[in-house]
Amino acid sequence: MNDLDSQRLAGQLTLRGWAPATGPAEADLVLLNTCSIRDKSEQKVYHYLGRLRSLKSERPLKIGVAGCVAQQEAGRILDRAPWVDFVMGPGTVGLLDEVLDGERRIATEFPADRRYDWLSIDRPSKVRAQVTVVEGCNKNCTYCIVPTTRGREVSRSLRSIVAETSHAVSTGRSEIELLGQTVNAWRCPESDAGFGDLLDAVAGVPGVRRVRFMTSHPAEVDDSMIAAMAGNENVSKFLHLPVQSGSSRILRRMKRLYTPERYLEIVGRIRGAMPQIRFSTDVIVGFPGETEDDFRQTLELLEEVRFGSLFAFVYSERPGTPALRLGDKVDEGVARERLNRLFAFQERIQSEVLDGYVGKTVDVLVEGPSRASELELAGRTDDNLTVNFTGGADNCVGALVPVKIIEARHHTLKGEAA
Ligand code: 5AD
Ligand code: SF4
Repeated sequence: MNDLDSQRLAGQLTLRGWAPATGPAEADLVLLNTCSIRDKSEQKVYHYLGRLRSLKSERPLKIGVAGCVAQQEAGRILDRAPWVDFVMGPGTVGLLDEVLDGERRIATEFPADRRYDWLSIDRPSKVRAQVTVVEGCNKNCTYCIVPTTRGREVSRSLRSIVAETSHAVSTGRSEIELLGQTVNAWRCPESDAGFGDLLDAVAGVPGVRRVRFMTSHPAEVDDSMIAAMAGNENVSKFLHLPVQSGSSRILRRMKRLYTPERYLEIVGRIRGAMPQIRFSTDVIVGFPGETEDDFRQTLELLEEVRFGSLFAFVYSERPGTPALRLGDKVDEGVARERLNRLFAFQERIQSEVLDGYVGKTVDVLVEGPSRASELELAGRTDDNLTVNFTGGADNCVGALVPVKIIEARHHTLKGEAA
């Protein structure tokens, strides 16, 4: 989501006739787009702003802070770093022009009419376009800062999402990634269409080879979403479904709105409709009150689901979140040790999952040369695994190419064009 916000900010600057500088030393504007989901992100921002200060004393330079740290800190940034010219939150990404032109130094409101000018997005990929479908989040997970920094949920209309998709396809992007903090909570503000209908509509736009979406909340998965995933060949058979914990007690304290049993039931239902699907997840360890037994239940859940990839984090206190009042802090060392054990546990499962691809032929949507070698091409499978392969035609970027997998690496696959 932040990535797309940066593309929107860059696009507005391009429309003003500005071009990217090679670095802060020769820039007229430095705009930091910031994330505050974990850690001491605000400290990182202040540290970086400190380094920019001396540049500003040498020549004219505008400095702005955008994103979630800007939303969270607002005026405090201008107090602590008066050399900053403006701060703007995630609700005003579309208003960069006004901020740059006017006297406004703090733009942290959430206007009812969010400007979302998709014609001016600077998309870095020639193959893929990210498309926001819902901004903000109405869930209230007790550890999470997103509802504060990104505000209440606002869904875009089906009509405008389909129009943006068609436009992206007309510029050569055949993979569409729908984005939302809780993407499957999307509801059309103009009709009674839900997320399953949206998947059907976007998958049906001529020229769309693949539809992905991020991030789904387990409590918002319904039969229409599952049917749309299973029923459209070009909807990716990959689902990022954050579980956070395998303990029902911890899930309750997190206000995640499901039990481990319910989560497993949803996974089972989805696998019933799409046996080939690959799941990935997010886990938080060391949430207040987490015991060794709670943690063990998380490992059990990982064993049961067998995720194809996993992101795990030590719980990090966020300002103003309800979890701060829970008490029962978990010792930092204990949490780190659990995180390491969890990674080691998942490592084995994941290598077993990836080994299962060796010998199979999969369709790869080619993105360009691989990072490791110019002799190889890289792209992704339908279930969102990166494949590096040899033997592809020079002009196959953007095409779906069948690739025979010859080796599984840590997180990627290696193959030959079939
Ligand atoms: N501490 C640690 N991890 C967090 N996440 C969100 N908030 C926190 C926090 N306060 C993780 C969750 C979420 C992912 C994007 O970041 O696992 O799914
Ligand atoms: Fe945060 Fe996701 Fe929970 Fe929303 S659903 S509060 S973004 S963790």
